[in-house]
Amino acid sequence: MRIGVLTGGGDCPGLNAVIRAVTKSLLRQAGAQVIGIEDGFAGLMGPATRTRLLDWDSVSGILMLGGTILGTSNKANPLATPDATAQTLANAQRLGLDALVVIGGDGSMAIAHGLARQGLPIVGVPKTIDNDIVGCERSFGFDTAVATVTDALERIQTTGQSHSRVMIVETMGRYAGWIALEAGIAGAADVILLPEIDYDIEAVARVCREREQRERHTVICIGEGAKPRGGALTVERRIADSPDPIRLGGVAHALREQLQPLLQSEVRATVLGHVQRGGSPTPFDRVLATQFGNQAAQLVMHGQFNRMVTLQQGRLDSIALAEVAHQHRQVPLDHPLLQTARQIGVSLGEP
Ligand code: F6P
Repeated sequence: MRIGVLTGGGDCPGLNAVIRAVTKSLLRQAGAQVIGIEDGFAGLMGPATRTRLLDWDSVSGILMLGGTILGTSNKANPLATPDATAQTLANAQRLGLDALVVIGGDGSMAIAHGLARQGLPIVGVPKTIDNDIVGCERSFGFDTAVATVTDALERIQTTGQSHSRVMIVETMGRYAGWIALEAGIAGAADVILLPEIDYDIEAVARVCREREQRERHTVICIGEGAKPRGGALTVERRIADSPDPIRLGGVAHALREQLQPLLQSEVRATVLGHVQRGGSPTPFDRVLATQFGNQAAQLVMHGQFNRMVTLQQGRLDSIALAEVAHQHRQVPLDHPLLQTARQIGVSLGEP
């Protein structure tokens, strides 16, 4: 058996832990040859493929490393043209791949689904700090990102206290507020603003004004996909040839502009950016990524293709790629953590 492995989309803590587990499992249990594809789908496209053999030694000692030893790309799209698709499939055949393990987010799963429909046997592994993949209640990388943002909120708080400021911290997460919500709770934010609940600027200002009288500082944690009532998303830039063409970013500055005229305190904004995707995975993410990698190997060995590994109600499972492609999972409005936030007096920007 000859199995390809690639990492697609943005990097994420835990990718190397998956590469290690899937490779060790396939080597040990199936005596398979494992071929690492470099730079995501880019390594499988074009006239010259970029691959390397993954043996036991090459995946040893990488469990705790951030990033991906294989490299990644969030631009390469084998489905962009019929020629690109045909060449990618021909390359997979020329490499003698019996199956391909794709470790990626919803964009990569959509590509995986498209290639699987054209006959390439694929197993998907969900990765994203955003925790927004449909059918999977926890993706690896999310716990690490939440820990990073929590740490940042704690650090920001001391400046807020010392200078009596309103401190706005913007998290990643795209159109889902998972990172902002969990880190906001863990980092004791006073206001948490999510893409799922359009915020009322007057309600946010009211919280800050009340706190100006008492605590004299306010910490606001806002997801990059949040927007004011009747307002638009804050888009940082558009990337025409990417499977994910809109990059969000900058809503913290937009909020600062709206809020400052309504308050006496100085309002400052911090955009955390890619620091949330870096560093060593937490123990939770190392365990989850190892389980996902091993589960992907089991699916390959049992011939269960065109499926993605999932975690549902705390149990490892799998779901058809067709059910995952082109979708994302937002925080449901009846999520218990939203209720907890409201009940302990954290504002969600609601009037
Ligand atoms: O999906 C992960 C993520 O980090 C998002 O939270 C963020 O919006 C996006 O990727 C940023 O992508 P890039 O690194 O390509 O700008």
